[in-house]
Amino acid sequence: MPTNRQIRLLRRPQGALTPDIFEMSAGEVPAPGPGEVLCRVRYISLDASNRAWLDPRPTYKPPVAVGGVMEGITVSEVVESNVEGLEVGDLVESFSGWQDYAAHPGTMVRKIPAGAPAEHAISVLGITGLTAYFGLLDIGKIVPGERVLISAAAGAVGSIAGQIAKLKGCTVIGSAGTDEKCRWLTEELGFDGAINYKTADLGAALGQHFPKGIDVYFDNVGGPMLQQALLRMRMRGRVVCCGAISSYDGQGGAGMRGIPELLVVKRLRMEGFIVMDYFSRRAEAEAALMGWLADGSITNRVDIIDGLEHAPEALIGLLTGTNIGKRLVQL
Ligand SMILES: NC(=O)c1ccc[n+]([C@@H]2O[C@H](COP(=O)([O-])OP(=O)(O)OC[C@H]3O[C@@H](n4cnc5c(N)ncnc54)[C@H](OP(=O)(O)O)[C@@H]3O)[C@@H](O)[C@H]2O)c1
Repeated sequence: MPTNRQIRLLRRPQGALTPDIFEMSAGEVPAPGPGEVLCRVRYISLDASNRAWLDPRPTYKPPVAVGGVMEGITVSEVVESNVEGLEVGDLVESFSGWQDYAAHPGTMVRKIPAGAPAEHAISVLGITGLTAYFGLLDIGKIVPGERVLISAAAGAVGSIAGQIAKLKGCTVIGSAGTDEKCRWLTEELGFDGAINYKTADLGAALGQHFPKGIDVYFDNVGGPMLQQALLRMRMRGRVVCCGAISSYDGQGGAGMRGIPELLVVKRLRMEGFIVMDYFSRRAEAEAALMGWLADGSITNRVDIIDGLEHAPEALIGLLTGTNIGKRLVQL
């Protein structure tokens, strides 16, 4: 009989994440009930938001329960099915979490598009790509010729957002935490420039890259980069508030100076969004992203960590910037 390895949350983190807040246990493989499928997890998506789900305050979803299996988006293979239309062997997107097996109602899983490799389905064609697509186009409303700044640009969402902005005819500058990442952005992804935010004087670097100011800032990080970007925004610029990773891992949110004064004076629009709001338009984004992947206009880099047991370290690494592109755990 196979066992179901599960990584559970032992206690809530105090400050920066450490692996000892998780524990591996062996549970039973669940039996799917009527209308359910049994999923065997193949890939777990590691997302910056996983860290926010560990804190006691609710985000856009309730916190992960202490003692419960760590939650996460997954691509799984159907290994038993009591659902018409879902066959053994089908690959599905599910919210199975950090474990080998989970049973789900058929209504809670989604067959991944035919022809999409699992690594694409859980990254550029999943939450990552949808976030980049709708954040940039619907919230940022970029226009060809505009000057766009993307933070955490060598990460999952940022690397796709930057490439879409280039495709749409914008000048794109990314910020990232190493010179290697900056080189990847400019030499391989076609960004017009890159800033190593850990070594640069942010104000001076933004001044150099944006002599006429920033039209759209796609903000993945909050903190000092947002502060400096606000000072550099052009009149009627837009700030896409996608995330604030600089405050997720126990650092707390440093208050911004200049809000609301800068928003008022520069007539800025600063708008947050959650990708789930756009699920009804998923087909539109998927079609565009699949087309760009197929014709080579965008590159989807995945950063695969092997083994469920390495998931805690892999998430800690993502929060400190050891990933390039979309980090996944392969089971
Ligand atoms: N609104 C939505 O619906 C939605 C959906 C998905 C994701 N998001 C947001 O998108 C952002 C990116 O998430 P992701 O899952 O794609 O992760 P990711 O970008 O693949 O990985 C996170 C990256 O953030 C950077 N980082 C870490 N600490 C930082 C700091 N203090 N300041 C600046 N950069 C820092 C690291 O790269 P460096 O080496 O560059 O530091 C790291 O690689 C997050 O803010 C997340 O919450 C939002």
